[in-house]
This record gives sequence, C-alpha cells and structure tokens, in this order.
Amino acid sequence: MSFQMRDGVLHAEGVPLPVIADAAGTPAYVYSATALRNAARSFVEALAPIARKQLLYAVKANSHPAILQTLAAFGFGADIVSGGELAAARAGGIAPADIVYSGVGKTRDEMAAALDAGIGRFNIEHEREGEVLSALACARGVRATALLRVNPLVDAHTHAKISTALRDSKFGIPYPDAAAMYRRLAALPGLNLQGVAVHIGSQITELAPLQAAYRRVGTLVAALRAEGHRITHVDLGGGLGVAYRTGEPGADVAAYGAMVACETADWDVTLLFEPGRFLVAEAGALLTRVLWVKPGQPHPFVIVDAAMNDLARPALYDAWHEFAPVRPRGPERFVAHVVGPVCESGDSFARARTIDRVEEGDLAVLATAGAYGAAMASTYNARALVPEVWVDGDRFDIVSDRTPAAMVRPQRLPHGMAVSACVPA
Ligand code: LLP
Repeated sequence: MSFQMRDGVLHAEGVPLPVIADAAGTPAYVYSATALRNAARSFVEALAPIARKQLLYAVKANSHPAILQTLAAFGFGADIVSGGELAAARAGGIAPADIVYSGVGKTRDEMAAALDAGIGRFNIEHEREGEVLSALACARGVRATALLRVNPLVDAHTHAKISTALRDSKFGIPYPDAAAMYRRLAALPGLNLQGVAVHIGSQITELAPLQAAYRRVGTLVAALRAEGHRITHVDLGGGLGVAYRTGEPGADVAAYGAMVACETADWDVTLLFEPGRFLVAEAGALLTRVLWVKPGQPHPFVIVDAAMNDLARPALYDAWHEFAPVRPRGPERFVAHVVGPVCESGDSFARARTIDRVEEGDLAVLATAGAYGAAMASTYNARALVPEVWVDGDRFDIVSDRTPAAMVRPQRLPHGMAVSACVPA
C-alpha cells in the first residue's frame, strides 16, 4: 500500500512520515514507488485487450527520472513537449524511438535537436510546424514520422483551463478542416505522416466525452483512408482523471480499456496512449508542517509551510487536495482555511473545510500531489524548490534536494550598477 495509518501515524509504505520530515525537512514531496507501480499495472492491464499499442507517459506530469525509469519497466515510453522534457526522458532511460514529441509551440531548435536525437515521432499541431519539420528532416536526409493532431470539438467536462478541444482551443486542427490539412501535410517530402492524434483535456472522469472524441477520430480515419492515405497509427492522448476527494470516483480505467477496445475494433491501427496524471497523481503527497493556527472570523487559518509555489493546482484550478494530519489528535474536527505563507490570498489549499484538529508544529499532508505538483513548482516569494523523497517498502531516498532559499539562479547586476554595501558578500 502507499499512504496509510499505522499505529496512529501516517506512513508512506513502511516509512513513518515524521522520519521523512526529520531527514528531508518540510515541505517535501513524498512518492510511493508501490503506488506508482500499482497505477502503471492497472493501466497496462486495462489495455490488455488492445493488441497493437504504444504506451507513453506524459512527462509533464512529473519528470523525475525515478518515475520515468519505473514506468519504463512497464513498457512506457515518453510523451514530451519541450527540449527540457526530451532531456528528462533520456535521463530517465527512455530510448529515443520510444519518445513522441507533442506540443503546440515547438521551436525550430527543439525540433532539430529531436530529429538529431532520433526520436520516434512528432504530433504536428498546425501547417507551418509541419512545413518546418519537413524541411529540417529533408536537410538531414531523413523523413520525420508524424501524426496530425486533430481537435474533435468535444467538451471534456473538466476545468476550463485543462480542456483542450473546445472551439477556441489553441490545440490541433478542428476536425472539419483536418482532412484538407492532412492532404497538404502528407504531400511534404520530409514527413512520413501515419495518422492522427487527439487529446481533449485532463482530469476527465466520465468516459462519454472521450468516447465521443474517439468516434469522430474513427470517422476521420475512414475518410482519410477513402482518400487513399495509409493510416497506421492513432494517438488517443491522455486525460484520465483520478479521485482527489475522498468518496468521489476517479476514472474507471478498466471501463476505459473496454470502451477503447470497442470503439477502435475495426480501425486496424497501432494505438498510442499518453497518460500522465492517472499514473503518478496518487503516488505523491506534499508533506508540510503547520506553522501557526491564526484565529479568524468566522474560521481560523491553518498556516502551513507549503505554498502555492510548491503546489499550484488549488490556486490555478481551484483544485481539491485532501488535507490530513500525520498524527491525528482524535475524532474532533473543526472548520478552517488551510493557507500557505505566500503573500497572496490565492495561496490557499482549502477554504472553510472541515478538517481534523491540528496545532502549531503538527505535520500534515496534501494528498494526491504526485502529478503536476513538483512539476509546476516555482520559486515565487524567493522560496526554495522543495526536496523529493522516494519511498519503496521500508526504504526511502532523498531524490532531489531543497534549493537554496533565495536566489535560486545566479543573477547579475547590469552595467553601471554597483553591489550595494548592504548586500552581504
Ligand atoms: N497528452 C497531451 C497532448 C497533453 O497535453 C497532456 C496534458 C497529456 C497527454 C497528459 O494528460 P493527463 O493524462 O495527465 O491528463 N496542470 C494541469 C493539467 C494539465 C494537462 C496538460 N496536458 C493540472 O494540474 O490539472
């Protein structure tokens, strides 16, 4: 198991969280290798009915090399969106052939570097990108294997900021225009266009929008074939959601696998999948310490040492993460705001939430923080990037260090400005 109570103390697998707090300090991200492997296994098992497939992990969710390596052992390659993620995927031991380059704003340099690294395929988002990729490939005497990303115009019923297939979304080519665009791109000499890609959004817990999107893709594939295109690959993207609130369901991955098998039964293609959150969200928690309990009307503020720069999801998407003490003090609960130290009212993890009683100095966790947690951290308020701790069974390792509290990257003064006498040497 991953995070559970034992003898009144919350553990990550076999390790009591206070032991981790002593070793790494707080705040800190804690990852459970077992939870990660369990999620990977359930995804792989759910897709067992699909014979021809390629599994890719969306590196943006969490790019720690230990996560990439663990997932690679289950057969996952990588879905990347930047040169930095290419480096992360390579550092995680993913072979270039098992990497797919997605993203709406690839630079020429990034595309060139990806071609030079021999990465497997590109998901093209618009015409100019295809033309430039073709030219870069021709200059190297190769053809870039590619898919065209299509916007199926389906509302994913998730937060607007993580919906990607609305009418005004920046991603892909709207499906009514997709066949014409495919024709133009397929004629480019440097591209080996093999099919289409789709991704409608993230944290999707109902299957209906995904199913609707895949149906449109199926229709498009048939239309492209009728025009004589050879379609061998379709990328179905990521997006499966998890349960952030106790008692709420996440996506049913087995039902997803069955739905995909059914919808794609006569497609005769290799299917690609790009899950991110589903694999890593539940494997991570943000360990934090209560700094103060400040009285407030009508509710007190529980001020913790983690903040929006460490875990941005609540501030950005009003996302819910369960807040739970590491050593619960008893059955009594109270209503409080849980907030961080950053100087913005948006630095809030829970508003008027009924939580277990906590006091100054107590440890607590913000749960389900393995996806888009550390990956989206910043150094706002000149705060440190927090350490990451890897737990596997009874063993833990600190797998990234806290950065120095201030000046996280060297900065220089411009010409003519002298170092102030007040700045310590
Ligand atoms: N493929 C593409 C092309 C994507 O854009 C994404 C996510 C994925 C795959 C993986 O999606 P997932 O399986 O993780 O849902 N920061 C936001 C989520 C942004 C998702 C961006 N794209 C959050 O914290 O909710």
